[in-house]
Amino acid sequence: MKILVTGGLGFIGSHTVVELQQEGFDVVIIDNLSKSTIDVLDKIASISNRKPDYHHIDLRDKIAVKTFFSSNAIDGVIHFAASKAVGESVQMPLEYYENNISSLVYVLQEMSANNVSNFIFSSSCTVYGQADELPITENAPIKPAESPYGNTKQIGEEIIKDGTKISDLKAIALRYFNPIGAHESAKIGELPIGVPQNLIPFVTQTAAGIREVLSIFGNDYPTPDGTAVRDYIHVVDLAKAHIVALKRLLTKQNKASFEVFNLGTGKGNSVLEVIQTFEKVSGKNLNYKFVDRRAGDITSAYADTTIANKELGWKAELSLEDALLSAWKWQLTLK
Ligand code: WQD
Repeated sequence: MKILVTGGLGFIGSHTVVELQQEGFDVVIIDNLSKSTIDVLDKIASISNRKPDYHHIDLRDKIAVKTFFSSNAIDGVIHFAASKAVGESVQMPLEYYENNISSLVYVLQEMSANNVSNFIFSSSCTVYGQADELPITENAPIKPAESPYGNTKQIGEEIIKDGTKISDLKAIALRYFNPIGAHESAKIGELPIGVPQNLIPFVTQTAAGIREVLSIFGNDYPTPDGTAVRDYIHVVDLAKAHIVALKRLLTKQNKASFEVFNLGTGKGNSVLEVIQTFEKVSGKNLNYKFVDRRAGDITSAYADTTIANKELGWKAELSLEDALLSAWKWQLTLK
């Protein structure tokens, strides 16, 4: 079975490629290296002892996508390739719509033209905005997106849904909560380019002395300790969920042509709890300060994992401690 992984040299993509290979799948990666580096390919091979095929293609290049699909027999697609920084998307919305939407459309068009019907879409809990009820189920209402990034995920799901109505496309959208951590080998992990937008890379870079202080965006939220709550899921647990979802489609166990699953641990942790846990597992004291809330942030989000556990037969197994320690070990390998 040959699986195309777009964005396969990225954070979640690379971890998913390793799990696919260890499950015996042949993997071909398309990545334009906008948010990654080519040495991740060798790192993946050093973990799985198999080097994936790699094509340096920008999915906005419609002809290149067409040429790829007409010359590669693919059994399924896992689509990670997208721009994903919430704040950046507010600064450059058109680039986000161009990249995230046109790439998706071109991949879906060529899948249809080449009778490739199994599709896994990288979506996000950001589609829920600040949910009215916690934990968040897959039936929670989709709220107007707080950012162009979140909007591209909402629009993406709608495009895929419409695609399943006019072809034999079968799709699963996986709505991630907050992916963190790194592979236990510390050979792959989160590689933020420039100043990290997400919490954990900023934490590990502060602990490593690369950043002078961690700013906590707001300690006046209506939460037990005043800092915002998220559902932090280990990236390896997340990667494994992609294999389960892919197999569901390959073995035709899906119950609808478009399905959605929340991927989280079901547990919420505040920023301060994350910091305290990191200090415990790393033995480092973190230098942090409280500053104003970040525009667009929500107070609290954590997943109701019932459907994913029951329907997918998947459950997150790794703890916040495991994830934070793996992130720290990964940081220590970076120059
Ligand atoms: C987590 C918490 C911040 C940085 C976004 C997207 C989501 C996914 C993950 C792509 C928040 C606080 C952060 C810092 C802080 N993106 N924080 N200081 O915003 O929950 O989710 O990134 O896949 O789709 O919505 O993640 O890591 O940016 O923030 O206090 O320097 O940490 O306010 O409460 P977020 P995050």
